[in-house]
Amino acid sequence: MKAQDSYVVEVLKLVQPFSNQSNKKTVFEIIVAKKNGEKLAVLTAYDFSMASIIDMNEIDIILVGDSAGMVMLGYPNTRPVDMVEMLLFCRAVSNAASKAMITVDMPFGSYQNSIENTVSNAVKLVKAGADSVKIEGGEEISDRIDALVEIGIPVMGHIGYKPQTSSMWNSSKAAGKTKVSALKLLNDAKAIEKAGAFSIVLEMVTAEAANIITKNLSIPTIGIGSGPVCDGQVLVSYDMLGIYQNMKPRFVKRYLDLNQLIASSVQAYSREVKSGIFPRNENAIHMDPKEYEDFLDECGLRVSK
Ligand code: KIV
Repeated sequence: MKAQDSYVVEVLKLVQPFSNQSNKKTVFEIIVAKKNGEKLAVLTAYDFSMASIIDMNEIDIILVGDSAGMVMLGYPNTRPVDMVEMLLFCRAVSNAASKAMITVDMPFGSYQNSIENTVSNAVKLVKAGADSVKIEGGEEISDRIDALVEIGIPVMGHIGYKPQTSSMWNSSKAAGKTKVSALKLLNDAKAIEKAGAFSIVLEMVTAEAANIITKNLSIPTIGIGSGPVCDGQVLVSYDMLGIYQNMKPRFVKRYLDLNQLIASSVQAYSREVKSGIFPRNENAIHMDPKEYEDFLDECGLRVSK
């Protein structure tokens, strides 16, 4: 089976590649990467400092995921995080990212009830610095993707395990284990592509289903827990750096144990403060000696020599 080019890909074919003055990764470049067989690296970020590091280090897309609700705000899942909170994370990351495309998750409740609400919330995210938005769901949300693309907002889809709702229905996270489930995923992926999405996250989809979906779409698939065949991969930065410890999904590779490094640094700091090792004199700022003498005089505290 050959992948049919989506609406977005067809439109982009008509657009001559132009010199990208802003230096930021564009939808065009993301789609061309798939055509050229180049893998896409995606990581989450939620704050200015982390986003600055990620942006400087070969990441194509920074995802301001609604996982922010868990790793930044300590919610038990991604459902409680709202537009006000996501706008803040979006602003912080957009102040940092000058190379990577910024994709921002539309939080639970911000796109479910109407197309008007979806458009109005997506526009707020774009005004806060998003280059594109991500929404969870299959064929049933294709009208919202269509409406966003129509007004010029690029959309990333998200199927398979959908953290906002899946756990309320099923304790099993994996999707695409049976023929029926794999077919549903493929149909959803095609509907999302047809609606104009420029890429699609496959979360915890069996490697076999991910392979067929990837081969049948002209837009890139971004996998998380969906095997090596996807066109790109995404991880939560706080997972892969070993900061967030509340859960460790099997698909996460820990590249660093930052939790341990931070813990030992915090302990060292505490010990040094309590024992008077920190701060030293060189860490202090000093008064001009003459000002100090005058100050002592004024207070009646000058010690006569
Ligand atoms: O919110 C998030 O971080 C995500 C990724 C896990 C894909 O949606």
